[in-house]
Amino acid sequence: MIKIGHRGAMGYAPENTLISFKKALDLRVDMIELDVYVCKTGELVVIHDDKVDRTTNGKGWVTEMTFEELRSLDAGQGEKIPTLEEVFNLADEKTKINVELKGPETAKPVLSLIDNYVSSKRFSYDDFLISSFDHHELVKAKKINPDIKIGALITGVPIDYAKFGQDLGAYSVNLCREFINQEFVDDAHKKGLKVLVWTVNDHDEIKRMKDLGVDGIFSNFPDRL
Ligand code: G3P
Ligand code: MG
Repeated sequence: MIKIGHRGAMGYAPENTLISFKKALDLRVDMIELDVYVCKTGELVVIHDDKVDRTTNGKGWVTEMTFEELRSLDAGQGEKIPTLEEVFNLADEKTKINVELKGPETAKPVLSLIDNYVSSKRFSYDDFLISSFDHHELVKAKKINPDIKIGALITGVPIDYAKFGQDLGAYSVNLCREFINQEFVDDAHKKGLKVLVWTVNDHDEIKRMKDLGVDGIFSNFPDRL
């Protein structure tokens, strides 16, 4: 079962910061999950919300702020909002990386950065999983690089279960804990898809997921997995 540190290890450190990702590595996760946007000046920045208000001491829309403005903010415990590159450098050889495309038009720059890392560093495409609730961005990612693994995020149980994942040519269907059931897991497996579930923090819920036979769990406390 794939152990995934959600936004690093946000149960222990400010979410989506380098100390959170370091903590996840210390806890020996198989994969870290992060959320990405393109800011006003074009840099790929790692942050969950479309506004900086909740997770930093600033105010405003991520996509309307320059990199310099974003970097001047405190993302918790004196940490800065990281770039995607900084997280890749930290993860180097130690863990796989799930990049969740949160902002609009993120597939292209993310895939281009991954290409750079695969061609010039010690990474392979298998080290990456691209996920999004925006399945159109996932289609774009697959078109740019058919070798990239994609994870289709969804909240709810579609009438035809995991078919959307199959239609997208996905590696995994990434489902919300509240909606997972045995029918969905079985259908995904029949279609050759992995089932990854977020965000599971309680011990009894972690056990329930394992009993359902899921392939991976996102947790804020990945040492509990
Ligand atoms: O990828 C799993 C999970 O991170 C999706 O939801 O809102 O926490 O990014 P969210
Ligand atoms: Mg996420």
